[in-house]
Amino acid sequence: MSHNQLDKKSEAWSALFSEPMSDLVKRYTASVFFDQRLWKADIEGSLAHAEMLAAQGVISQQDLAAIVKGMAQIRGEIETGQFEWKLDLEDVHLNIEARLTQLVGDAGKRLHTGRSRNDQVATDVRLWLRDEIDLILKLLGELQHALLEVATKHVDVVMPGYTHLQVAQPVSFAHHLLAYVEMFARDAERMQDVRKRTNCLPLGSAALAGTVYPLDRHRVAKTLGMVDAQGTPMVCQNSLDAVSDRDFAIEFSAAAALVMVHISRLSEELILWMSQNFGFVKIADRFTTGSSIMPQKKNPDVPELARGKTGRVVGHLMGLLTLMKGQPLAYNKDNQEDKEPLFDTVDTLRDTLRIFTEMIGGQPNPATGQKDGGITVNAQAMEQAALKGYATATDLADYLVKKGLPFRDAHEVVAQAVKAALSHACDLSELPLSVLQGFHTAIEKDVYGVMSLGGSLNARNTLGGTAPVQVKAQIERHRARLHQKEQP
Ligand code: ARG
Repeated sequence: MSHNQLDKKSEAWSALFSEPMSDLVKRYTASVFFDQRLWKADIEGSLAHAEMLAAQGVISQQDLAAIVKGMAQIRGEIETGQFEWKLDLEDVHLNIEARLTQLVGDAGKRLHTGRSRNDQVATDVRLWLRDEIDLILKLLGELQHALLEVATKHVDVVMPGYTHLQVAQPVSFAHHLLAYVEMFARDAERMQDVRKRTNCLPLGSAALAGTVYPLDRHRVAKTLGMVDAQGTPMVCQNSLDAVSDRDFAIEFSAAAALVMVHISRLSEELILWMSQNFGFVKIADRFTTGSSIMPQKKNPDVPELARGKTGRVVGHLMGLLTLMKGQPLAYNKDNQEDKEPLFDTVDTLRDTLRIFTEMIGGQPNPATGQKDGGITVNAQAMEQAALKGYATATDLADYLVKKGLPFRDAHEVVAQAVKAALSHACDLSELPLSVLQGFHTAIEKDVYGVMSLGGSLNARNTLGGTAPVQVKAQIERHRARLHQKEQP
């Protein structure tokens, strides 16, 4: 086969086949129109493989030089949009290899020595995903910073804390936001952990059983940066597992789905808080849309879409798990189906994190040095809502316990007081002392300090509690933690 014939897949693998594929089957089996986004990883992996083949004397230095030169040209062609992707060549791997052979002749044909597309594709996806994880880690850090900035400004803003979506106890708005910082911090830890198992080299496993050539897999792993924190090369240790394992993709999808679930919970809160019934926050107009029929409306489209897209990402996780469940060892073509869900998960997560960081924290305005367009907080509406719901009832009960009542009795006394306040349509703190004393004689004037929203907040001064001193300490802890992570 002369090298200029190599532009059809059938010619790329064998003369064994006696009939051509129909166009329908070609389209059905091809992946090039979605896996071409792996091109950088594919070239990087091929160069590392070729360099090692030459170092081991499997191919000549001249062949290596030709491969390096050809790949540089291919890189340029792809970057400038000149590369012609051919459906006939099925996937990214065959497209690049065929072009290489077209450019440099036999050296291109030698590149595939000791390698199969099975270990090649597994390597490409891992390399690509590793870099995406690094970007996602950065974006998770930025979202946490945005939340911390808003929290810093609202430590003393009191809102109702809810259980069962019923007003429960007053909390600091900053405390509420920090709950999400905790979630995203755990998400980042999970991503870090997934990265370790993603960054492991399948190449050198060949089709499934290893290869007869004297490969140096550790060298390839080092070249590709597939090393642990100590610099030890990370190499998949069983060739059958290496070519067929997609655990890293599933683990990543699970971690991504959980990030999206957290985003979705935050979205749900933003949507509630923005409704006229709450009126707690506003988001900038550019994240909302109007209604074509109701002129007064501003709809929270971005949080709603994020909540909706969470379904997609969770679905991709289910898709990948199901993709793997019936596969015998080793590689099966089923695995080609790992890419679209993985790509869509990465794209959705990346865009969502970026947009949320801006929607919450705003965008830097170079003219003022401030950030514009972040979330706006209506502290008064939050406070009013907390007052409306008898959020300090527990504080009154705790007050009575301090005066010597058993908690269950105190609970009962306060229930009577709430009933009275309800019938007068007022807050507990608006009941006159004489009325309160009618429920229990232990109640004195100092009760009013306890029943204020600020008093209630300050009283919850345990580690992890909502007292402003605790909240400030948590903000500092998160800042220091993120700062440490950001060190190179
Ligand atoms: N496009 C294929 C995939 O994504 C590459 C591996 C093909 N290997 C094979 N033996 N047909 O999985």
